[in-house]
Amino acid sequence: MKNDFAQRTGVIYPIIQAPMLGVSTPEMAAAVSNEGGLGSLAIGGLSPERSQTLIRQTKNLTGKPFAVNLFTHTIPPYEESKMVPMRRLLLEMAKERGYALAESELQNFRFYTYKEQIDVLIKEDIKLISFTFGMLDDATIQLFKSNGCTLIGTATSLKEARLLQESGIDMIVAQGLEAGGHRGSFLDDEPLPQVGLFSLLPQLAKQVHVPVIAAGGIRDAQTMRAAFDLGAAAVQVGTLFIASKESDAIPAWQQQLSGVDATDILLTRAFSGRWARGIRNEMMERIEASGIPIPPYPIQNSLTAAFRKLAQQANDSSYTNLWAGQSAGDAPADNTRDIFRFLVKELKG
Ligand SMILES: Cc1cc2nc3c(=O)[nH]c(=O)nc-3n(C[C@H](O)[C@H](O)[C@H](O)COP(=O)(O)O)c2cc1C
Repeated sequence: MKNDFAQRTGVIYPIIQAPMLGVSTPEMAAAVSNEGGLGSLAIGGLSPERSQTLIRQTKNLTGKPFAVNLFTHTIPPYEESKMVPMRRLLLEMAKERGYALAESELQNFRFYTYKEQIDVLIKEDIKLISFTFGMLDDATIQLFKSNGCTLIGTATSLKEARLLQESGIDMIVAQGLEAGGHRGSFLDDEPLPQVGLFSLLPQLAKQVHVPVIAAGGIRDAQTMRAAFDLGAAAVQVGTLFIASKESDAIPAWQQQLSGVDATDILLTRAFSGRWARGIRNEMMERIEASGIPIPPYPIQNSLTAAFRKLAQQANDSSYTNLWAGQSAGDAPADNTRDIFRFLVKELKG
């Protein structure tokens, strides 16, 4: 089990619980880290105060290494007037569905970037930092490195992986097309990379010189073995943990994972303005069918946030995002610890 990845991160098993904003929790991350894997705490887009609280909660639950995950996108310029048609559609749909969604909740957004979280990470002495949706800027890379951090970027193509490597990133997550949640793709002027993990992983393993972590569809002995055979130094597992006891996903979302067919798990920009994979539902279909231009991330994400929150409070799976990878069927409803132990047992064969 001792490979580059394990040595560098200080874990026993080269298995990462994927950071999953809105799903993963301090309890989930700590459970995995306490079992000798690498738990991840997702804080992408959160305020510095909230980030610090979550980090401290995780530290209270584990003395073992865990990773903290950032979103490294830029905020695109946008005009209020361009949001009007989407705002109108959301208000109309919410009213029809019986939700008291106020127009004031669909404007005056406050976006946090990773730059506002840097001080907290340094202060809390976080040594493992993963990120997605782009690159860290050079000054931040230098700062983190001078603090002894290991940096883990996300790539969905060989070109993205090379850029991350050139900027000095220590490890790269190869995120295959089958992965649940948002695509980490960040070359905005190019078409969305749509490379499956079986193609992406060996390309990266051969052509970049830092450890490569496989993400997308990994859930058991066969998929882990395939990833290691194709050159992975570690695997990153997301969807398998969504139905766990420590997950923040609503019960209706967790239930949909059992028995869902891969053909009902689609890429969409409807919820957030950024391509992400989840289970098809009414909100996704209606936003897409409306023909209304979807504002870019994170604007659309903020526009739909209040509506999704109301739906989540009502355990309504029709009007919130149901992120899931293509291998979602039968995600276990066990403790995170037991799901992780299952993976370790599978890995040991
Ligand atoms: C619900 C959900 C939320 C996610 N949120 C994040 C996130 O906050 N940061 C991140 O780097 N990746 C995120 N991802 C992507 C995962 O890191 C990983 O690439 C993916 O889960 C792997 O594929 P799998 O779901 O088939 O295991 C998320 C995935 C899911 C399913």
